[in-house]
Amino acid sequence: MQTVKVELVPHSYMVFIGSGVLGTGNPAINVSAGATVLIVSNETVAPLYLQALTNSLTGTHVHSLVLPDGEHFKTTESWSRIIDKLVDIRATRDTTLITLGGGVIGDLGGFAAASYMRGIRFIQVPTTLLAQVDASVGGKTGLNHVQGKNLVGAFHQPAAVLIDIETLETLPAREFSAGMAEVVKIAAIRDVGLLEWLEQNRSGIDTREPAALTRMIERSVTNKVALVVEDERETGIRVLLNFGHSFAHALETLTEYKRFLHGEAVAIGIMVASRLSEQRDLCETGLSLRLGSLLQAFGLPIEIPGDLDANEILDLMQLDKKAVAGSLRLILLTGPGQGIIDDSSSSTQIIAAISATQHR
Ligand SMILES: NC(=O)c1ccc[n+]([C@@H]2O[C@H](COP(=O)([O-])OP(=O)(O)OC[C@H]3O[C@@H](n4cnc5c(N)ncnc54)[C@H](O)[C@@H]3O)[C@@H](O)[C@H]2O)c1
Ligand SMILES: [Zn+2]
Repeated sequence: MQTVKVELVPHSYMVFIGSGVLGTGNPAINVSAGATVLIVSNETVAPLYLQALTNSLTGTHVHSLVLPDGEHFKTTESWSRIIDKLVDIRATRDTTLITLGGGVIGDLGGFAAASYMRGIRFIQVPTTLLAQVDASVGGKTGLNHVQGKNLVGAFHQPAAVLIDIETLETLPAREFSAGMAEVVKIAAIRDVGLLEWLEQNRSGIDTREPAALTRMIERSVTNKVALVVEDERETGIRVLLNFGHSFAHALETLTEYKRFLHGEAVAIGIMVASRLSEQRDLCETGLSLRLGSLLQAFGLPIEIPGDLDANEILDLMQLDKKAVAGSLRLILLTGPGQGIIDDSSSSTQIIAAISATQHR
């Protein structure tokens, strides 16, 4: 089992990564769990892993709440159901909430833990690759409002993160690929060694070989943690994690969240951002091709469908909350593994990069 320490004030926590982390009596869980536990999961994940997790929590009183599955249930209604359940079981500050599922359950359960009694302990047990390499670490929690995704939320760090790579065995291929987009993202902005390792270990990743997955997740988490520790509240360097995301959010909005999984939109966003970096001579030509062949090898799309309009994408990017007055703040690359924050791309340059990424 690998561990990554997240050293934050007022408390640090550990991320545990490996096969069978959820096995019976794993000390990692019992060290962290309090006397009463509420496990929050969903209708897809609970039948697969709730029993195993419950069994491993020896010596604690375990309650569970199973919510419907899907991003459209990341709502105040679901949050209310968690709070009602906490009230129901007479949860106190000694209660630990455990989220068992993908990023939706992690964000929702985390926000309930952040808000109930002004904050109770929670443990993340992420079961999608995307949640394991990205969403479960860093303390961002929240839910969607009809007016915007993740519009309501709080920073609330977990007490521990338990990543059992065996849970990936049941993850659909398309969801696995979506998680790979975030792995490529983190490699592209700050870890050229990881980028090279990904290029050399495609087959081990494709076959979900345990040693390869553990190493890849550990390395991705280590990179994310470094940015989180430096800038917990995203007032500076943590924003690098949004590489490809301004384009991705615009694509997701334009297609009403129906056509792409988040990771798929991120893959296309990475292509636009790296092309823009090349066109602006910030990095050498060929980097977008290099990232594109990696993304494609992991089953991800790398082109914007021909029916989507470049100007509409730019308009939506300007509406995105990350837009700074006047100019668009984007994450670009000065080389492999070298992301920078930049706000000097012109609309014409952005449109050119979008058009160059469009299928024709
Ligand atoms: N807090 C953060 O820092 C952060 C970062 C990135 C994304 N997010 C959020 O995460 C969410 C996306 O997360 P996601 O991609 O994990 O989506 P998700 O939680 O919807 O999970 C994807 C699908 O996989 C299913 N699933 C989960 N684990 C499974 C398993 N082991 N086997 C079979 N099926 C399984 C889920 O039930 C769901 O149907 C978004 O709401 C996004 O806003 C948060
Ligand atoms: Zn993302």
